[in-house]
Amino acid sequence: MDVCIGLLGCGTVGAGVVELVRRRTDKIEALTGSRPVIRRILVRNPDKPRAVPLDKSLLTTRAEDILTDPEVRVVVETMGGIEPARQYVLAALRAGKHVVTANKDLMALHGTELLETAAEAGVDLMYEAAVGGAIPVIRPLQECLTANEISEIKGIVNGTTNYILSKMTETGADLGEVLREAQALGYAEADPSSDVDGLDAARKLVILATLAFHAPVRLDQVTVQGIRSITAADVAYARELGYVIKLLASGSCHQDKVVLQVQPTLVPKHHPLAHVDDAYNALFVRGDAAGNLMFYGRGAGSLPTASAVMGDVIEVLRGIGLPQVGVRGPACLRRVEVRPDLVPPRRYYIRMTVADRPGVFARIAGVFGDAEVSMETVVQRRGGRASAEVVIVTHDVPLHQLQRAVDQVALLESVEAVHNVLPLETDDEVSDR
Ligand SMILES: NC(=O)c1ccc[n+]([C@@H]2O[C@H](COP(=O)([O-])OP(=O)(O)OC[C@H]3O[C@@H](n4cnc5c(N)ncnc54)[C@H](OP(=O)(O)O)[C@@H]3O)[C@@H](O)[C@H]2O)c1
Repeated sequence: MDVCIGLLGCGTVGAGVVELVRRRTDKIEALTGSRPVIRRILVRNPDKPRAVPLDKSLLTTRAEDILTDPEVRVVVETMGGIEPARQYVLAALRAGKHVVTANKDLMALHGTELLETAAEAGVDLMYEAAVGGAIPVIRPLQECLTANEISEIKGIVNGTTNYILSKMTETGADLGEVLREAQALGYAEADPSSDVDGLDAARKLVILATLAFHAPVRLDQVTVQGIRSITAADVAYARELGYVIKLLASGSCHQDKVVLQVQPTLVPKHHPLAHVDDAYNALFVRGDAAGNLMFYGRGAGSLPTASAVMGDVIEVLRGIGLPQVGVRGPACLRRVEVRPDLVPPRRYYIRMTVADRPGVFARIAGVFGDAEVSMETVVQRRGGRASAEVVIVTHDVPLHQLQRAVDQVALLESVEAVHNVLPLETDDEVSDR
């Protein structure tokens, strides 16, 4: 039986989907009983050259050619952005079409509305490609790990910032230089703010945390710190201390209290997340029954992302063959309290520039001592003509206590600037506790 697919968008991911359908049609038919046929493809500009050979008559600029075509049973959304993608996905679902999307922005901001609409219409809405590119993370959280209470998720989910930090570590270059290079190579967008400021990672964290903790969480509940403040000096000090800097997205849930954070973090060199380089992504999950799991692979790219999209399409086709579509049930089973103040005590790295005078360090140590923040390591280097650079690594300390000490230190007349305050990941983070 032929099952018609309408494709919204034929860029990097859409072209990968066209290619995988071409390569795997017979296999998919053998596995599901349904033969996928791409019936129409929505684009902005039909005259643009495409990355895959295409019958031009498939291209349309009118969304209704797909959304109101009764022959189209599955809509694959790879156009990106919020509007009109949201309107198109809603229209497709209301028309009784199953939808597969790669759109993390859409799922992070409007996932609840779209999933409810899908449930009302009795159709599937699947979005494996929205987080982690080729890596299966959505379905494991949604299905395979449902018997667990998941207490923690943590990972590297943004390829652009991971590429930038990896290159800074490898070459010792500053962020601006590596960013310009990444833009020239097409690894970073002309306006890189969504990646560099941590927003893309935060959106993915919202999707993952909603599934892992079975609770609705919002983007504005994530504490977000991007990588703009990270300099070559931070990378070099981290290396000297035995760490690499990674942008980690993390969520924890204890007794219905959730903490959600995106922040640059010092990760020990032998920690598995320290070896996730360039455009690779990884997600660590801690379940009470499964124990610790780590998912790793290509976080973006045409065929890697299309692989995840097509995994969803095949699942939908299986469901069309067997009557089990639209019965996946709600993702959110409970309410949680999002409590950024409940970050557990941890170690922190602080880098500052101070006046190079006798007694300055004693004053800093005094402020830390008064705030009961104890120091584990101190590195002091001559900086410019009359200044010195001081790096302090603390012992475990509650965040509010550390913040108080840092605020006090910043007020000292001999402290020129506090450049960065970053948490340190512990060695045992991914071992069984
Ligand atoms: N690229 C990746 O590696 C990757 C990885 C994971 C997830 N994703 C997600 O996948 C989605 C697609 O990303 P992409 O990199 O493939 O984007 P892209 O290369 O920019 O392709 C977007 C496609 O959608 C079409 N399009 C966009 N807006 C349209 C509109 N208003 N009307 C009609 N057609 C429209 C474009 O048409 P024209 O070609 O005519 O301009 C283009 O074919 C995004 O949600 C993205 O976040 C991407």
